[in-house]
Amino acid sequence: MAGRIPQAFIDEVVARSDIVEIVGSRVALKKSGREYKACCPFHAEKTPSFWVSPDKQFYHCFGCGAHGTAVGFLMQFEKLEFPDAIALLAERAGLEVPRESGGQRPGTGDLYELMTRAARFFEQNLQDDARARAYLAGRGVGEAAAADFALGYAPDSWNALLTRLGGEPDGRRRLLQAGLVIEREPRGSERSAGLYDRFRDRLMFPIRDARGRVIGFGGRVIGEGEPKYLNSPETPLFHKGRELYGLYEARRAGGEFQRLVVVEGYMDVVRLHQAGIRYAVATLGTSTTQEHLHKIFRLTGEVVFSFDGDRAGRAAAWRALENALPLASDGRELKFLFLPEGEDPDTLVAAEGAAGFEQRLQAAWPLSEYLVRHLLAEVDLQHIDGRAKLAALARPLFSRLPEGVYRELLVDRLAAEIRMPAARLGALLTASPAGTRSMSGSGRATPPRTPTQTTGVSAGRGNLLRQAIGLVLHHPTATHRIDWQGLLDHLKPGEPGTGVLRELIEQARTAAEPTTAMLLERWRDRPEFARLQELAARAPLVGDPEAAAQELRQAVGKLAETYGSGRRVDELLRKAEETGLNSAEKTELSLLLQARSRPTGRPAGS
Ligand code: UTP
Ligand code: MN
Repeated sequence: MAGRIPQAFIDEVVARSDIVEIVGSRVALKKSGREYKACCPFHAEKTPSFWVSPDKQFYHCFGCGAHGTAVGFLMQFEKLEFPDAIALLAERAGLEVPRESGGQRPGTGDLYELMTRAARFFEQNLQDDARARAYLAGRGVGEAAAADFALGYAPDSWNALLTRLGGEPDGRRRLLQAGLVIEREPRGSERSAGLYDRFRDRLMFPIRDARGRVIGFGGRVIGEGEPKYLNSPETPLFHKGRELYGLYEARRAGGEFQRLVVVEGYMDVVRLHQAGIRYAVATLGTSTTQEHLHKIFRLTGEVVFSFDGDRAGRAAAWRALENALPLASDGRELKFLFLPEGEDPDTLVAAEGAAGFEQRLQAAWPLSEYLVRHLLAEVDLQHIDGRAKLAALARPLFSRLPEGVYRELLVDRLAAEIRMPAARLGALLTASPAGTRSMSGSGRATPPRTPTQTTGVSAGRGNLLRQAIGLVLHHPTATHRIDWQGLLDHLKPGEPGTGVLRELIEQARTAAEPTTAMLLERWRDRPEFARLQELAARAPLVGDPEAAAQELRQAVGKLAETYGSGRRVDELLRKAEETGLNSAEKTELSLLLQARSRPTGRPAGS
C-alpha cells in the first residue's frame, strides 16, 4: 500500500467513471428501462438477474446478491485490490493518482526499504543468537521454514536497531514512522524526546504484503512473558485489519490452492506451512473482517475458519460467521473447524501430522451447519415458544444472506428441525418489502408508489432509521431539496446509528453531484460499509428525488424526536428481554450498537 489515496481524489474518480461503461466492456449489457441487465458474471445463470443502474452508479445481482460500485465491480471481476481498482479507473479518466505523503514526511517507498533492512537485521541476529535459535528449534520450526518466513530475532537491547538504522535524524524519523522505535518524554534537562527500540528480545515474524514487501512485524517473547505478542502499530504501510499473515508465502508456494484455511496465530501458520499445508493464513489478533474475506475470495472459492475450542475461539467464530454471511453466495464454500479445547493447529499438526489436520479440515462444518447448530443451542424446541424464538433469531441472519443455495439449504435444515414446511418457513424468513425486482423500483412489476402510498414514515420506528439511510443512499440529491436548518442538530454525531445517518446526509448535501456510489466509497474502510451496501442494493421505496426529499424530511424530523435523548437503545434492549424484537427492530438495534462497540477482537499487545 503506497500511501493513502486522498478521499477527494477517490470522489473525483468515482464521479468521472461510468459504471455502465466499466461493466459493459466486460459483460454484455442490455438496456431495460432506465437500467441495464445481463446474465450475472459472478454466478451461473440462464436468465438475467444482474442489474446496473446508471443513476446510482451501482450494480446488483438478485440471484447471488453480488452488489457494489464501479470500484467494487473491478475488485470483484478483475480481482484487484482497492488501490489498483482506483488506479485503473483513474487511468481511464486521464487522472494521476496522488498520494498523501508529501510535505515533511518521507515517501512510503523509503519506508518499505527501511522495513526490509530491519527484517534483514533481525534475521542476521537470529543467526547469531543461540538462545533464540534454541527456542525456535524447541518449537519445532526448522531452518527451511524459518528462512521461508524470514523469521528473525530482535536483540535484548533498547537501541540495537536504532543505532544500526537511525544514524541520521532523518533515519530516526523514518524508524518512528515505521513503528520500529518508540518516542519517550524528554527527561530532566533533555531538550528533545528520546527514542528506543519497540521490539526487544523477541522472535520476529515479518508480515509481508501481496508483493512480498515487509509492512509490519509481530514479535513473540522467547518463552513466557507479557504481552506474548507485540505487533507493529498502524503505520502508512500497515493496517492490521486488512492483512493476512502467510498470504504472500501461500501464493509464493505456487500452484493453485483449492482453499485457504484461516487460523489464529503466527506460529500456527509457520508450522502448517512447514508440514506442507501451504494454504494457511492468519488474521493478526483481530477478528475476521469483510476486507479479509474479500481478499480471500479473490483468490479462492473455499475457506475454512479454524478456531480454538475455547470460549474466545467460539466468540471469534461467530463474529467471523456474521461478517461472512453477506459474502456467502453460490459457488463459495465457507466452513468452520472447531479444535479440541487446549489445542491449536500448531499442536495438532505436531501430534497428527498434515494428513490428520487435513482430515479435520475435510470434516469441518459448512456455514449452514454451524449456523443451525448455534441457533439450536439457544432455544428449547420442546416449547412452542422455542420454535418462534428460533425463527426470530434466524431472521436477521437470513436477511444478510444473498439469495441462493445457502439460503435454501438453511431454510430446509431449519424447517426440518422445527417441523414446518420449508416453503412456509422460507416465506416467513425472507419476506422482503413488496416491489419490483429492478433497482429503481420505477414500475415494471408494480406501479410506482406515490409518497402518500408508501408505508414510509408511518411504518414504525424500527424501520425509520434504516429507511432514512436508504433514502439518502438511493436519492442523494434529495438532500439538496431540503432546508436542513436546525433539523440535524437533534441527530448527535456521536450517537450510534443516527450518527451514520447524519454523516451520510452531510456528505450528500455538501457534494455537488452526489451519487450512491460516491457515498458508498466514502465508507469502504468503515465497519458500516457492508450494511450500507446492502441497503443500497435493496429496491427503493420511493421513485423520484422530490418524493424522496419529502419522505426523508419527515423521517429525520421523527428520528430527531425519538433519538433526542438516546434512550432508544435501552428501550429496545428491554423489549428484547421481555417480548423479543421483530427483524426491523433488530436491524435498528444492531445499527445502534455497532458504533458503540467497535469490534475489538483479541488484545493486540501493541
Ligand atoms: P495465541 O495466544 O493463540 O498464540 O494468539 P499462538 O499463536 O498459539 O502462539 P504460541 O503458539 O503460544 O506461540 C493468537 C494470535 O493472537 C495475536 C497474535 O497474532 C497471535 O498469533 N496475539 C496474541 C496478539 O496480538 N497479542 C498477544 O498478546 C497474544
Ligand atoms: Mn500456539
